[in-house]
Amino acid sequence: MQKEVVLSGIRPTGFLHLGNYFGAMRNYVRMQDEYNCYFFVADWHSLTTHPDTKALKTSVHRVIAENIACGLDPQKVSLYVQSDVPEIAELYLYLNTLAYKGELEKVPTFKDKVRLQPDNVNAGLLTYPVLMAADILIHRAVKVPVGKDQEQHLEMARNFADRFNHRYGEVFPQPRAFNFSKELVKILSLDGNGKMSKSENQMATIYLSDEGELVKKKIMKAKTDGGPAEDNAEKPDYIQNLFTLMSLVSSDDVVKKFEVDYSQCNIRYGDLKKQLAEDMAVFLKPIREKATAIQNDNAYLQKIMREGAEKARASARATINIVRESMGVKY
Ligand code: TRP
Repeated sequence: MQKEVVLSGIRPTGFLHLGNYFGAMRNYVRMQDEYNCYFFVADWHSLTTHPDTKALKTSVHRVIAENIACGLDPQKVSLYVQSDVPEIAELYLYLNTLAYKGELEKVPTFKDKVRLQPDNVNAGLLTYPVLMAADILIHRAVKVPVGKDQEQHLEMARNFADRFNHRYGEVFPQPRAFNFSKELVKILSLDGNGKMSKSENQMATIYLSDEGELVKKKIMKAKTDGGPAEDNAEKPDYIQNLFTLMSLVSSDDVVKKFEVDYSQCNIRYGDLKKQLAEDMAVFLKPIREKATAIQNDNAYLQKIMREGAEKARASARATINIVRESMGVKY
């Protein structure tokens, strides 16, 4: 039986952090045997919000290196850079003729970006969801592991696929959001303000590239409070977050000890943070070292990107041939 196609993209803006790792990448790693996986760096997408390309190359290399360091095996998956696959741009052009200005203007992420960059409301920003649909449909992917914030984009991809199929014949399957594990781990910012994110408060975000000392500093500054007021109290979310992190990197015994301390109002947050910081630093060290080694090995990086692009282009070319055929763009 043919494996189902899974696809996801990461924009090369900002550093990968624990939220990306536990919420997404760890799942990608688990998918790579069961599915036909395509993971790519969305460099074209980043141009819609980050026109300054001085750091682009370094960022693209870092994302590739960090993905491999987190356990993605470039032999098993197609790991590639979007701009190495020109077929995506061609499909984007066709899909643009099926996307309406009105529906694109209504997309909440578009409106957010207009608010954030009123002086650069470029057409690429408006058609961001069309490019994303092209990314997905070019491999006729059916499973797309993305967070909640991308679900509307995915719905639009389904609409564009539908419209294409109605107008030109059945070519595209319907792509759906996909959570591999039952519950996705959500990591909150260490200051207690929402999800851990790439760009907001950097001292409240732990990046995969953070050195041990910095990890300690950040964890020791994490938000806590005066402790539970009664036995078996419910944990506020910023405390639960520390326990969640601990459950991901510390031994069961350690987690249990602090759980018992908490339920009996004996918790010492200083001790908990110290332990968590140590275990987190140990957890991150091999990932960071591997990522750095890969980033410094340009020959290896070039080989990985070339092989990834070859695999992706083989699949993309097959789709484009069918697309052209069904559209009558073939003479
Ligand atoms: N828009 C996604 C984000 O901001 C990145 C992305 C681009 C993507 N193309 C994709 C994700 C295709 C999944 C599938 O995170």
